[in-house]
Amino acid sequence: MTTTYPPEPFRIKTVESIRLPSPKEREAALKTAGYNVFTLKAEDIFIDLLTDSGTGAMSSEQWAAIMRGDESYAGARSFHRLKAAVDDIFGFKYFVPTHQGRAAENILSACLVKENQWVPSNMHFDTTDANIRARGGRPANLVIDEAFDPANLHPFKGNMDLAKLKAFIAKYGREKIPFGMITVTNNAGGGQPVSMENLKAVAEIYRASGIPFYIDAARYAENCFFIRQRERGYEHKSPIEIAREMFSLADGFCMSAKKDAIVNIGGLLATNDEALFNNIRNELILREGFPTYGGLAGRDLDALAVGLYEGLDEAYLVYRLGQTAYLAACINDAGIPTIQPAGGHAVYVVANEILPHIPNYEFPAQSLTVELYREGAIRGCEIGSVMFACLDPETNTWNYPKLELMRLAIPRRMYTQTHMDYVADALAKIKSRAKNLRGYKFTYAPEMLRHFTAQFEPL
Ligand code: F0G
Repeated sequence: MTTTYPPEPFRIKTVESIRLPSPKEREAALKTAGYNVFTLKAEDIFIDLLTDSGTGAMSSEQWAAIMRGDESYAGARSFHRLKAAVDDIFGFKYFVPTHQGRAAENILSACLVKENQWVPSNMHFDTTDANIRARGGRPANLVIDEAFDPANLHPFKGNMDLAKLKAFIAKYGREKIPFGMITVTNNAGGGQPVSMENLKAVAEIYRASGIPFYIDAARYAENCFFIRQRERGYEHKSPIEIAREMFSLADGFCMSAKKDAIVNIGGLLATNDEALFNNIRNELILREGFPTYGGLAGRDLDALAVGLYEGLDEAYLVYRLGQTAYLAACINDAGIPTIQPAGGHAVYVVANEILPHIPNYEFPAQSLTVELYREGAIRGCEIGSVMFACLDPETNTWNYPKLELMRLAIPRRMYTQTHMDYVADALAKIKSRAKNLRGYKFTYAPEMLRHFTAQFEPL
């Protein structure tokens, strides 16, 4: 194997015990959970790769900042420390904190989306998709075709297809498109980055059509570092310089701070539009809290202000992207396909290629996710037909996603090389008995965001 594991640019000060349950305990836990790993108890999990969201390890500087938290209801010092960081990195005229990313999406959708309007993006994440639909709008995913070819080595597989975007705008017109988005990195498409060149072109297309442009910035720092590694002209720029250039292209952004700001809770919503900001504030007060805390405690704002800079630290990003690439390489060495190249925050195992005998309506990625827990008490996440298959309201037929994936999302600064090796070994063992695995069927499925609470039965 050519990929080496980068030494962590930190040392460990506090540890948290984890326990490997016995095979019998795992089987019982699966049954009780209705074969949905979201319903498992965390204490029954050895390595938790369900998500990189809010699960990272905070630094000693962040914990120290937490002690400085100012819990004043309005105008807290904590807010002003956060404001200094947000202004410095993102440079928008107005912003509010929110309790997490989907709260920002909800407020933006509430303020801008009307019945039967469309919001294009490279790919919307599931909560963004659902928040647009919840207001009667329709999300559209216009990522380049290379995104759907797991083996394609395109360096910026998160890019928007510019021709598709232009055709989309020509078809629906400005009145039907209240705003346009792009997700960096593209989580729903394998954690793949968007190039600065593509971001500039997208911004120009939206601007020429008078459509406001918002970035879903959950993993913007990882995206910035991919730009530095892969895009000519950025080799010598620091991540923060690349970030400033990225956000100067947009009219605003929403962000789940639980990813690249390395906090356990928090989000941001920013805009340059004063009239919109007034509506955002009113909506925020209704649902989240006063504009200087937005559903968070003062201490959360302080942890976020520090975490924003730590997430942009170069040594950290070398380690972060290196760790993900290492896990992908170990899994590939075992003959198991993953989306290429490795994404920023997660490795996406192509479940339908390991389990070609399980059709999409029997959820191959769900089957693999259950089996990974059974094998090693490791929790991954289905990103396939359980999460994304949806009923088209116009044709009343089911649309299935192009890929059936199991995502192994790596919490920031939490697991070591040995943990990564353990995960790859478990997958190698599953591969040797893959043909014996069976699909699953729903015994309960809610209408929206069904992966969180669905219950299953093995077939
Ligand atoms: N946008 C992207 C790209 C995301 O990945 C997420 C969350 C959100 C928005 C919503 O943010 O959770 O703070 O409300 N992704 C998590 C994940 C849940 O596991 O990928 P949130």
